[in-house]
Amino acid sequence: MTRTIMVTGGCGWLGSAIVRNLLERGDKVVATDIVVSSEMKSLAETNSGLSLEICDLAEWPQLMDIFRHYSIDAVIHAAALVGVLQVADIPLKALRANVECAVNLFEAMRQNRIKRVVHISTEETYGDFLSPVIDEEHPQKPVSVYGLTKLAAEHYGRVYSRNHGLECINVRTCWVYGPHLPRLRLPRTFIEAALRGEPFHQQDGARFAVDQVYIDDTVSGILLALDKQSHRFDAYNVATGVASSIADVAEAVNRTIPGARITVGDSGEKYRLDETIVSADKGALDIGRARSELGYEPKYDLRRGIEATIAATRANVGQA
Ligand SMILES: NC(=O)c1ccc[n+]([C@@H]2O[C@H](COP(=O)([O-])OP(=O)(O)OC[C@H]3O[C@@H](n4cnc5c(N)ncnc54)[C@H](O)[C@@H]3O)[C@@H](O)[C@H]2O)c1
Repeated sequence: MTRTIMVTGGCGWLGSAIVRNLLERGDKVVATDIVVSSEMKSLAETNSGLSLEICDLAEWPQLMDIFRHYSIDAVIHAAALVGVLQVADIPLKALRANVECAVNLFEAMRQNRIKRVVHISTEETYGDFLSPVIDEEHPQKPVSVYGLTKLAAEHYGRVYSRNHGLECINVRTCWVYGPHLPRLRLPRTFIEAALRGEPFHQQDGARFAVDQVYIDDTVSGILLALDKQSHRFDAYNVATGVASSIADVAEAVNRTIPGARITVGDSGEKYRLDETIVSADKGALDIGRARSELGYEPKYDLRRGIEATIAATRANVGQA
């Protein structure tokens, strides 16, 4: 039976990839966002399975209109203000977008008797990793506004699950990368410089290692969580299980693009996102639970993921 899946943040980077995957396998999709991207607009024009709706999740009447208009079977909640740096100085906006919107969504689902929501959560909810590889039972002590808001959304989902029968499943992914990443973050910065034929020196962080997961693997974990009939757990790490250093990323770019000159310094201090913000201690996510419960298996190691990203980026910077 064809299902109708609502994807919030459906015009965002991960959201639009999720939408495309759902459509490809035959689901109907209601993609909601505060802005409509031209890419999603043209997809909706050619694919009758996709409905696009402008909806600010913080605006209750707009949200209720969606549920009144469509018969939604389940929700993937991808809308958020994203990024440690991006929201550091706008804590109230982040509270509204990441917490208030999630609560509105859960409440609207409760009132419309829709049970299943997959919330795309993040390793930032853990705060400093206490060991090189951490599983879902690791303490959640966020050290960023972003991580704190995402954890609050997880907890609201838990309260709604316990008290109102919602099934809020949290997919905690890590540093997702791939083509068309909307933020200027590595490996995008490395790849674009290399494709322009320019050298690039990253000041710091050669040894800073974090689980970096190719977008297709994250999307596959999200869809597996959506599809699983009944869950014993409400949270899954979805990444690669391996932490790659920033020097590893530079090396993968240098190896794949002839003549690339990407270098990374190492002051020995913690990795700095900017002058004021020091990143949390990171590492790899243990993906054993996602493997055994969901059948999740990442297909891209760092090398393959960087190659795929470079292949898709080439055209954009005129190096086809
Ligand atoms: N990209 C990553 O590395 C990463 C890692 C872990 C978790 N996540 C999570 O994945 C999800 C998607 O991230 P992304 O990288 O695609 O970000 P993105 O910024 O590309 O997409 C987020 C979308 O949410 C929409 N949005 C923001 N506020 C809204 C509101 N009030 N109402 C409706 N829509 C609103 C934005 O317009 C945007 O299109 C987020 O929940 C994020 O926390 C991302």
